Amino acid sequence: MSKVVEMAPGIFWVGATDWHRRIFDCFFSLPYGTSYNSYLIKGGQKTALIDTVAREFGDQLIGKIGTVVDPSTIDYLVMNHAEPDHGGTIPQVMAAAPKAKLVATKRGVEMAAVFYDVPPERCRIVADGETLDLGGKTLQFLDTPWLHWPETMTTFCPQGQALFPCDFLGAHIASDKLFAEEIGGLSIPEAKRYYAAIMMPFASRALRALDKFDELPVKLVAPSHGPVHSTPEHILGAQRRWASGALEPKIVVLYATMYGSTEALKAALVDAVSSKGVEVVEYNLAVADLSHIMADLVDARALVVGSPTFIGGAHPLVHTAVETVRMLRPPGKLAAVFGSSGWSGGAAAHLKARLESAGYEVLEPVEIKGPPRAADLEAARALGQQVAERVLAG
Ligand SMILES: Cc1cc2nc3c(=O)[nH]c(=O)nc-3n(C[C@H](O)[C@H](O)[C@H](O)COP(=O)(O)O)c2cc1C
Ligand SMILES: [Fe+2]
Ligand SMILES: [Fe+2]
Repeated sequence: MSKVVEMAPGIFWVGATDWHRRIFDCFFSLPYGTSYNSYLIKGGQKTALIDTVAREFGDQLIGKIGTVVDPSTIDYLVMNHAEPDHGGTIPQVMAAAPKAKLVATKRGVEMAAVFYDVPPERCRIVADGETLDLGGKTLQFLDTPWLHWPETMTTFCPQGQALFPCDFLGAHIASDKLFAEEIGGLSIPEAKRYYAAIMMPFASRALRALDKFDELPVKLVAPSHGPVHSTPEHILGAQRRWASGALEPKIVVLYATMYGSTEALKAALVDAVSSKGVEVVEYNLAVADLSHIMADLVDARALVVGSPTFIGGAHPLVHTAVETVRMLRPPGKLAAVFGSSGWSGGAAAHLKARLESAGYEVLEPVEIKGPPRAADLEAARALGQQVAERVLAG
């Protein structure tokens, strides 16, 4: 959006829309681009800016602020999170606003020095629950660490009933509309994919933050990426469901294949699962997008992994996917593995061990030699049936 939006009296969106970006953190695909939301809060006496934008959008940010106030008059730069997509313009804002103090948690102030050379005398550390009076407007700071870095905090403005949780509750969407209610269908699924890839390992921290938010009269949820929510119960309810680990009767199948043998086993297994009436989502890792896999794993009861043996272990694509699953820690902890090998085998045992060490219960693997014969396909079907029955049993 090239315009500035007054979301509530004296609270302005002054962020940047990045329509053309296609990858984030060298990992997360951005089919819809993204935005870096920055908010200007104008009180009777003081002005605060909440988070900045990525470095290449610095001039745009300063220009947008300039349509509301003289940027040199900014008193506080609230840094909810130090990551460069939001902090990248801190040096430019601190230079444009010579009397501004950077407001952050203790760890945030340390990280502002590491990432942006902000000297301690230009910083103000805020503790959980502390407030800052802007004159007719207040900022209240909530300690919400590890969402998704150690320094993260959330800012609340009671007069606008606006919550600024930075990355938490965000989604990567570029749009000419600010509100989720105007954008429609994409908002919640994209917030889920975002949660899966960034926040899922910190689910218990997310629940703690949501409990804190429940005590506030929130009317606007204004994260640092994507839409602002003016019916906050939608995003807060969905987020609570994801973070609480509520599971659906759904199986996610990940596989790779070089000559089609593992794929033939996969087909037999999936056929058995489907005939039990259980939902299956398949990802051929040669073409799959890890962030979509993770989004499906937010609430899938079971994970099924197929791999040919490759130099004694799992195929590299399967290896990467399973290691990513281990890092992101989805809540469903039932797994099955299968695959084909040429001589010694080994992929299935390797995958079973990796998944078990991440807390999975792994059913007895099916590993065959070469292309599957009738008995092998039957074994794959039996494995599929077993997973489906376990999923149905809950
Ligand atoms: C690069 C490469 C490495 C392999 N390494 C092993 C191995 O270490 N041990 C083994 O038993 N088979 C190994 N194989 C054989 C495959 O596991 C076997 O051909 C298998 O049937 C392939 O399954 P697919 O058709 O699903 O790709 C290797 C094959 C390739 C192409
Ligand atoms: Fe971040
Ligand atoms: Fe971010």
